[in-house]
Amino acid sequence: MAALSPDDAKKAAAERALELVRPGMKLGLGTGSTATHFVNLLGARVAEGLDVLCVPTSERTRTQAAALSIPLATIDEQPELDLTIDGADEFDRDLRLIKGGGGAHLREKIVAMASKRMIVIVDSSKLVAVLGKFPLPVEVTPFGLKATLALMTKEAKAAGCEGRIEIRKNPSGHPYVSDNGNHIVDCFFGSISDPEALAARFAAIPGVVEHGLFLGIAKGVISAGPQGIEIFGHLD
Ligand code: A5P
Repeated sequence: MAALSPDDAKKAAAERALELVRPGMKLGLGTGSTATHFVNLLGARVAEGLDVLCVPTSERTRTQAAALSIPLATIDEQPELDLTIDGADEFDRDLRLIKGGGGAHLREKIVAMASKRMIVIVDSSKLVAVLGKFPLPVEVTPFGLKATLALMTKEAKAAGCEGRIEIRKNPSGHPYVSDNGNHIVDCFFGSISDPEALAARFAAIPGVVEHGLFLGIAKGVISAGPQGIEIFGHLD
């Protein structure tokens, strides 16, 4: 395959994922630039008559899908889904992910775990030997933010992770507010040698709503790059 730009690769992964969609499926729609390609491609199929019902993982994706006339439901209306297609910020060969670069990982995790299958679409630059170069996003409650950050620092250290933990800001300089009314902090750990240990420790902190580690959730990854499409795990 000729050299692909990262965006072409994201689109190629989305095109491969579209082949998994069957008429009548209930789908989870991810968030981010790669998921955006998938939603556009799906919208074109819906316009041709494909029958699907979709639950978006963010207000951004909801707006995009609605503009394409994709039939939509909320997760409360459809708490059991067949397939979720979503991007990732990093993945490793054990199909462990970092997500939340777009601040949507709480809804993304709820929707993915309500699905029989979560398939991840990425460009090949997202594969890492060790997770953590991408800053780990964590959704936190505005209440008790400083106390939560202090606990996160302590628990991260106990899991072998050290580095800056920063409150994500909007371009205006104000703390970013998620679709759920919470803030996001980004953990610059560089590497996360034991993601399971870190996930367990973060999950036990009351001010942590959800961290962006997706462990044991993805069934397969479709990775597109200069060498073509590579599949990790299973797509079926
Ligand atoms: C959104 O919060 C994220 O989890 C995205 O799925 C992730 O950041 C991947 O985004 P891109 O497809 O834009 O790289």
